[in-house]
Formats: sequence, C-alpha cells, structure tokens
Amino acid sequence: MTDIKKGLAGVVVDYTAVSKVNPETNSLLYRGYPVQELAATQPFEAVAYLLWNGELPTDVELAQLRAVERQNRALPADVRAVIDRVPLDAHPMDELRTAVSLIGAQDLAGSGSVLDASGNPEENLARSVRLFAVLPAIVAYGQRRRRGLEPVAPRDDLDYSANFLWMTFGEVPDDVVVDAFNRSMILYAEHSFNASTFTARVITSTLSDLYSAVVGAIGALKGPLHGGANEAVLHIFDEIGDAAAVNGWLDTALAEKRKIMGFGHRVYKRGDSRVPTMKAALDTLVNHYDRPDVAALYDALESEFVARKGIYPNLDYPSGPAYNLIGFDTLTFTPLFVAARVTGWTSHILEQLAANALIRPLSEYNGADERHIDGYVADE
Ligand code: ACO
Repeated sequence: MTDIKKGLAGVVVDYTAVSKVNPETNSLLYRGYPVQELAATQPFEAVAYLLWNGELPTDVELAQLRAVERQNRALPADVRAVIDRVPLDAHPMDELRTAVSLIGAQDLAGSGSVLDASGNPEENLARSVRLFAVLPAIVAYGQRRRRGLEPVAPRDDLDYSANFLWMTFGEVPDDVVVDAFNRSMILYAEHSFNASTFTARVITSTLSDLYSAVVGAIGALKGPLHGGANEAVLHIFDEIGDAAAVNGWLDTALAEKRKIMGFGHRVYKRGDSRVPTMKAALDTLVNHYDRPDVAALYDALESEFVARKGIYPNLDYPSGPAYNLIGFDTLTFTPLFVAARVTGWTSHILEQLAANALIRPLSEYNGADERHIDGYVADE
C-alpha cells in the first residue's frame, strides 16, 4: 500500500531560509527574528527588505527602498483602465489578479521566448519591489471604485502603511490605527510553505515568470480555507449579530457541520503564534473606536468554540474585525492579505530559483482498469 499524504499533510518538500514555523513552541521567525518583535519595532518596508535580503536594512538601505516604493506607488492609468472593465460585482481578488496579470504582461513585453521568462535575481528583486509598491494603490482603488469614488493620489510625505490608508480613505487615521495596520501587514507577510506560497513555488519551478507565480498565488489565497477566511470571519460576525447569540448560532452551525472560519490551522494545533499580537492590535482598535461590542462577540465566539471543539483561532480571526473597525469593506480583507504576502511569495520565488528543482509529485492511480475501444485494431 502506498502511503498517501492527502493534502501533503506533514510532508517536508524542501528547505527554506525565509521563515520558520514552529508549532511546538508556537513561534514564527522571519529570517531568524520572532515576528512579534518585528511587529512591535519595524515598519513594514523594513520587514519586506528583511524577507527579500535576509537582513534588516540599514538606515540608508531603508531610505533607498522607500524611495523606490514611492516612485512606484501610484496607480498606473492603464491598470486603472483595466480595473474599470472588471465587473463592479466581481470579487476584488479577481480584480487584483487581473491587474497583476496586466502589469506582468507589460513588464515582460518584448522579453522573448519562454526560455528567458524566469529572469535573473536582480531583475526579480526589482520586480518584487515594484509589485509591493503598486499593490496598495490597486487594493485602495478597488474599495473606492465599489463606493463610486475616484482614486486618491499617493502622498510622498507618508510611509507605506500611512499612505495605504490615505489612498483608501482620503485621510490619514490616528497613529494607533496606522500602527495596528502596520502590524497586520507584518504578521501576514510570510508563513513558509502555505498553500499560496507553495503554488508560487510550483509555478516558479517550471521556470515560468515571477508575475505568473504571483497571479497563481493570488488564486490560491482567495479560497476560504486560506486567505479568504479573514473575509469569511466578518460574514460570520454579521450572521451572529452579538455576543448573546453565540451559543445558539454555534449549536446550529456545528449541527450543520459548518467550518467556523478563522479557527483551525494545518500546522498550529494549539494556537496560531500570530494571534496574540494581532489580538492586541484589535484591542487597541476596539478602545480607539469605542466598540466593546466587537470585543464581546470576539471573546464569546472564541471561548465557546475552543471549549466545545478544542480548535484555536488563526490570524484571520482577529484581523477580520480589525480591518472592519479601520473601515475596510469586508471584500477588501483578502486583497490586504495579498498586499502583505506578496513580500513572502516573492522571497520564496527568489529562493526557489536560486536552487531550482521542478516540483512534480506522484499520484496513486485508482481509476478504471485498463480497457479498450470496441473494434479498434492497432496498426501493424
Ligand atoms: N471549524 C469546524 N471544524 C473544524 C475547523 C473549523 N474551523 N477546523 C478544523 N475542524 C475540524 C474538521 O472538521 C475535522 O474534524 P473531523 O476530524 O471530525 O472531520 C478536524 O477538525 C480536522 O480538520 P481538517 O480540516 O482536516 O484540518 P486541516 O489541518 O486540514 O485544516 C484548515 C486546516 C483548513 C485551516 C481548517 O482548520 C479550516 O478549514 N479552518 C477554517 C478556515 C480558516 O480559518 N482558514 C484560515 C487558515 S490560516 C490563514 O490562512 C492565515
């Protein structure tokens, strides 16, 4: 009997130096640094630099990265034109996937045969930085377009996170809100061989290009078992209504064998290492916006579900309500995840190319026995 690892559960497929997930100690390291320390001390740009380059930037290196980010943070007119042709009621992840696909086609135009597609490390790092820089404009415009609003031009005096919020809302919120948002970007940036990162690595392993790998990763992230869960958490909160309704709602949901979004994880079985940091950011937002009702619903669902099933929240559980309090539309939550995770995806793309092997697993056939077409006679 072949030992089938359904869903590749527990299978180690390669080395990575980008991040280490340790479910035993409930820790997550980016290039050796605990993610909690990075979230408490670093701007997201510095963490992006760390993921790509393996070290935190010096002041000069950070200033250089920020300069390139500022040069590439405006929404290009032709990207806007393509976004405007995506149906308004399409999911914003489809809009984002389409926009990245266009950016890739434009950047790679004239680059010749597929044999040249994968590019060299310097080109791919530059492409990664440009994508990281432009994604906030696309995500922000997506939300504004659905509200019937024009895009907001970026501001050169603002760093990444403050500018992201400015382009979305046309105002810069208080520092505590910018800080909570910055922390969420850092927490979402990287998580080893998750489904979307693995997708990006599979595509890269064929020596396809970086943009194709990112487009594929966006498709993988959209699913509610992965990145789509942060959106799904808010749908659940809306369904439940308030803390007093949790027990009854959970009775029905569990009787119907529903998955409770924002809970459970393939790797962490005793709690997601990112949750305490994001929960603290959510608490700050709850105080700032004076919304104890959100905290009450959050706590009631968590304690009741953990008590009944022993399954703990993952990062999407606190980030969903946090993004809601900041003012993001529910449909924008997973695109925010993309804007953050593009740093991890592209770091893995660079790593995959540096020591590539085509990713091609095997399967055990369990279909029909060999059979033949009636009347078919093989040519001599
Ligand atoms: N709600 C209800 N039951 C659950 C949940 C949940 N959220 N998560 C796991 N279970 C149950 C399963 O029904 C299963 O029960 P069974 O053995 O009686 O059939 C058991 O726990 C094992 O679950 P699996 O789905 O097999 O565990 P796996 O490791 O494959 O799944 C996953 C992990 C997909 C994340 C799962 O926990 C889930 O679907 N959670 C909800 C979606 C979610 O929040 N995804 C976000 C992931 S983290 C991120 O992307 C940032």
